[in-house]
Amino acid sequence: MTEQISKLPLFPVNTGVDNRGHLVIGGCDTMALAAEFGTPLYLFDESGLRSQCAAFKTEFGKRYADTNVIYACKAFINKAMIRLVMEEGLGLDVVSGGEVGIVQAAGFPMNKVYFPGNNKSAEELALALEVGVGHIVVDNFHELKMLGEIAKKKNRKPEILLRITPGVDPHTHHYITTGNIDSKFGIPMVFAEKAVATAISMNEVKPVGLHFHIGSQITETEPYQQSLDFILNFAAEMKKKYQFELKELSVGGGFAVQYTLDAPAPPISHYAEAITSKLLSKCKELKLPPPKLIIEPGRAIVARSGVALYTAGVVKDIPGVRCYVSVDGGMADNIRPALYQAKQDAVIANKMNEKVSEKVTIAGKFCESGDILISDIALPPVAAGDIIAVAGCGAYCIPEAMNYNASFRPAIVMVKDGKARLIRRRETLEDLMRCDVG
Ligand SMILES: Cc1ncc(COP(=O)(O)O)c(C=O)c1O
Repeated sequence: MTEQISKLPLFPVNTGVDNRGHLVIGGCDTMALAAEFGTPLYLFDESGLRSQCAAFKTEFGKRYADTNVIYACKAFINKAMIRLVMEEGLGLDVVSGGEVGIVQAAGFPMNKVYFPGNNKSAEELALALEVGVGHIVVDNFHELKMLGEIAKKKNRKPEILLRITPGVDPHTHHYITTGNIDSKFGIPMVFAEKAVATAISMNEVKPVGLHFHIGSQITETEPYQQSLDFILNFAAEMKKKYQFELKELSVGGGFAVQYTLDAPAPPISHYAEAITSKLLSKCKELKLPPPKLIIEPGRAIVARSGVALYTAGVVKDIPGVRCYVSVDGGMADNIRPALYQAKQDAVIANKMNEKVSEKVTIAGKFCESGDILISDIALPPVAAGDIIAVAGCGAYCIPEAMNYNASFRPAIVMVKDGKARLIRRRETLEDLMRCDVG
């Protein structure tokens, strides 16, 4: 087995190699996809996406029947993706008026949508109430007051969850840590009682539960369990003091994904077991009726099923220093390595059967020295024109993409059973100037 082939577990489940040594995903030859749609190209394996949606429902549902899986669409939003999520029977987590708009345009039932976010505008809250978003996840007192005023004007009484920061360290990169005290997200524990008391006293909102989301790419289950301890103790206290009924509890998302061979991620079942067993035992201990459990996976639904294809261009070998292979994309379509040192792996899609022989650094084409996609990766000899396939690009690449250096955001295809369906075309020069006036 060559080292290139040993990386296949990082790629979508339906990945193989054909007799020409080409990487094949969802039955499609990636070389043919690159030729037809151009590069950079993002592709998503449809069956892989569907099986992840189903796995979350099954693994949590069989341990805790009253589970509601909602996909955090910030990880990858596109109308085709939203329709897929709808067909798989999941709910959605949106964080902006823009996401509300796309989800609505895709025909998603708005009552299955939850709306967190740390600085929602009055317009966004008004839109959410107008289109019938199911639950608003209130992040702070400013929002609670504003929501009350808007709800009153619109004669609505939205169901809300209060987002509490439990003060737990999930041991992930600090840029993707959200549940600690020093965070812009959520209501700190010290103010949580005041938030519950205020919400209960308001006629304009209906507080039905609590919410926490402690971070992303979390490989341990203890932080979830610790957070559950805090939140359920708190809920029991609020029940005694204010007759607060915890009907729903969201534990957020954050479930990790394996991006490199040396950093495995726990299976979904591991998180499901830890979270549901803790929830059940703690509710029993506190004599609380077990609430509806909400989970909000984003990354873990889409990351592995997405792959970025680039064409290699300049190969710059600096003897004794480093060999740079520049590709036709980079930080403008995948800012994760530059933003928080995200690690990913790649193969040369047209040389899957060739022996790995050199270490190179895959650089992007954008005008920042930090635009490095992967440092010191072992590959077969690379030449201009080779197609580099980067694994684990399904989450937070496309949504965080930008037009730096007036680049065009990439085309996206969905692959299944040997067929590729374009779900987003590549941008054009006209797109770049569409909003310019004068
Ligand atoms: C409130 C909330 N829920 C869910 C998620 C999804 O997290 P992940 O993609 O790590 O599962 C996020 C990510 O930022 C979030 O802020």
